[in-house]
Parts: sequence; C-alpha cells; structure tokens
Amino acid sequence: MFSSRLPDHAATNRLTEAVRARRARGDAFIDLTQSNPTAAGFEYPDDLLTPLADPRGLRYAPSPLGSVEARRAVAADYARQGLAIDPGRIVLTASTSDAYSLLFKVLANAGDDVLVPRPSYPLFDYLTGLDLVAARHYDLDVHGAWSIDFATLERQLTPRTRIVLIVSPNNPTGSFVSAADLDRLAAICAPRDIAIVADEVFVDYELEPGAAARAGRAAARQDVLSFSLGGLSKTVGLPQVKLGWLVVGGPDHLAQAALERLELVCDTYLSVSTPAQLAAAALLERGAFVRAQIGARVRANYQALLAAVAGEASCRVRASEGGWYAVLQVPSLEPEEDLVLRLLADGVLTHPGYFYDFPRQSFLIVSLLPPEASFAAGVSRVLRHFNCTATPL
Ligand SMILES: Cc1ncc(COP(=O)(O)O)c(C=O)c1O
Repeated sequence: MFSSRLPDHAATNRLTEAVRARRARGDAFIDLTQSNPTAAGFEYPDDLLTPLADPRGLRYAPSPLGSVEARRAVAADYARQGLAIDPGRIVLTASTSDAYSLLFKVLANAGDDVLVPRPSYPLFDYLTGLDLVAARHYDLDVHGAWSIDFATLERQLTPRTRIVLIVSPNNPTGSFVSAADLDRLAAICAPRDIAIVADEVFVDYELEPGAAARAGRAAARQDVLSFSLGGLSKTVGLPQVKLGWLVVGGPDHLAQAALERLELVCDTYLSVSTPAQLAAAALLERGAFVRAQIGARVRANYQALLAAVAGEASCRVRASEGGWYAVLQVPSLEPEEDLVLRLLADGVLTHPGYFYDFPRQSFLIVSLLPPEASFAAGVSRVLRHFNCTATPL
C-alpha cells in the first residue's frame, strides 16, 4: 500500500535506544551531539522575533520565488560575505532540506544520480530517496585536511549524473571546498551538463583563520549551473523560523531556465511563510548578535579540544576548517557502536563515525555547540576512556 521511498518501518539503532532508556530513567549525561542552537545556552534577545509580527503579514500576496524585499535582504547578507548577488537570482525556501527537494525536482528525473560526498551529513540518503533520485558517493580524502578525492568522483559519474553535491564547510569534517577544487569540479561538470549544488549553511563559522576566504563560492560561478544554499537556521541560529534560500549561479541562459522551473515548483507549494519573509531583513541584521556568540563558542570549544587532545598519542583531532563539529580519531579497541554505547554508559553522548559514512573505524563526532564547561567535561570523559590524560580545561 505504501511507497518504497520510505523504509517499511522506522529502524532505530542501539544508540538511540540507549539514549531513550537513559532519559526515561532520568539519568543525566553530557550531550556532545547537541546541534540545536536554541538549546545551547546562547542569549537570544526576548524581542528578537518581534519582526515576525509585522502587521503587513495580515495580507497574503504570494510570490513564488519570494518577496523582492526578502530576496534583497538575502543579497545584502551575501554582500556582508563579500559576494555581489543579484536578488533576481535568489529563491526563498522554508529550509535547506526544502531547497534540496526543489532542486532535485528541477534537475533530475526519477532514477537519475546525485553525487554526494562521503563522509557527510546522514540526511542525504533520505533527501535523495524522497525525491526518487539515487545517491552515489564520492570520497573526501583524509590526507591531512579533507579534500575532494577526484578519482572516486570521476569513477562515480554515470550518464545519469545530474548533480554533484558539495558541502562547504562539510558536516562533520569541517572542510571547505577550496577555490581550486571548485574550479576543477566546474570543469568536470559544465561539459556534462551536471549542476553543482553547494550547501554553504555553515560558511559563517570559520574555525581555521583564512579558510573561508580560500573557499570557492558556487554563487559566483559563471561557467557552470550552480546553486548555493543557506538559511537562518545556521546563519543566525534560528532553525524554527523556517527560512532558507538558494542562489542560482552560472551562465545567464541556464540560470534563467532554472529560475523559470524553480518558480513553477515554488508556485505549486508556496511553502515560505509571509511573516518570515517580512521579517527576513530584520532577523538577518539582529541575528548577527547570535551568530557572534555561536562563532565564539565553536572556536573556543575547538581550541579547547585541540588543547585537551594535544600530546595524546592514541587520539587525534582531525583538522576542521569550519562549522559546528569536530572529528576525533580514536584507537579501534572495539566497534564504534560499542564504543559510543560504553561512553554513554559513562555519561557522555557522541556520534560514531559510521553515522556519517566514514570509510573506516574509529572516529567520534562531537558538536562544538555545547556550553564551554560542559563541552570540556564531556571531552575529558571521552579521553579518560582511552587512558589519555586530558589536559585540564
Ligand atoms: C550540512 C547541513 N545542511 C543543512 C542542514 C539543515 O538546515 P535547515 O535547518 O535549513 O534545513 C544541516 C543541519 O544540521 C546541515 O548539517
């Protein structure tokens, strides 16, 4: 009776079950997987969301790609990042996931291929499956910093490849796609009529000074149809407002053809709320206060992690250039799942690398969002497990 886009039953893993059981028992633990900025102790001014009550929101005047005013506000936010974007090339979405779905509909037919980086964000398997496209993985190379392994990428191309996804900086490896790698990717994609979709939601959170400036930006491309994705969710730490966007880069004729099709899909769903559009400019401006706090927190936690792990032969932090996560490489004394369960029993929750399709064992992924003191306590608890002497934080 039901579609095969979804699994027959929602499978839960042992870690989810253990977390649930621990919560039910009222057993506290330090959550190093916390990725909800609104629950991480940041100061959100009480009146931050007042712009959502703009009385102009009482009137519904749908505009499929988004109101001109809100698209200008998003263009102004790109100007803050040093990119001049025509608001006419901006499309508003309810979230980044919504943007992916729009793009899969516009660029691919059922059964076409989308190349997805590995390791990365686990949601891609669902997002592609829900739109009936097939995810094929290309690797990120882990020599020193992570970068695109072009050999696997080219091996994964098929005549049905419609999109190459990049995540810059990537969740969880924290690697930006460099300008040189984006040039190389564009040279592969353009002649094959493959579009580049660049998830840049974490672009504001540089951990390695200068990394963002060295990164390639999809929205600025002239040579290949490309899309840059962003949103309030990460840029100003307001996922609940449900406002995202995509910017169409590339040659005019392709960009216009994409915009026409996007308009049709957006007109079918009209998913972006009017109050969110009316508030976009004010939220982007006022949200800078929240962004600054998140940026300071993730940088401080990343430095604390480096300091705690420094000098420990058995554990190492994989260099992260940006984003909200860090990758800890640990000794393979047991399967990752057993390891994270044992850590949870010891009162600290981390994610295993296999959740993100790491090619081998053993990696732990930690969020850099938790308040500094609890992050430091959680890290010490993790390192204690490996008999590492954690540097007091
Ligand atoms: C790489 C990446 N893209 C997109 C999102 C989700 O963004 P949104 O809330 O706008 O759908 C996340 C959330 O963690 C993410 O890690």
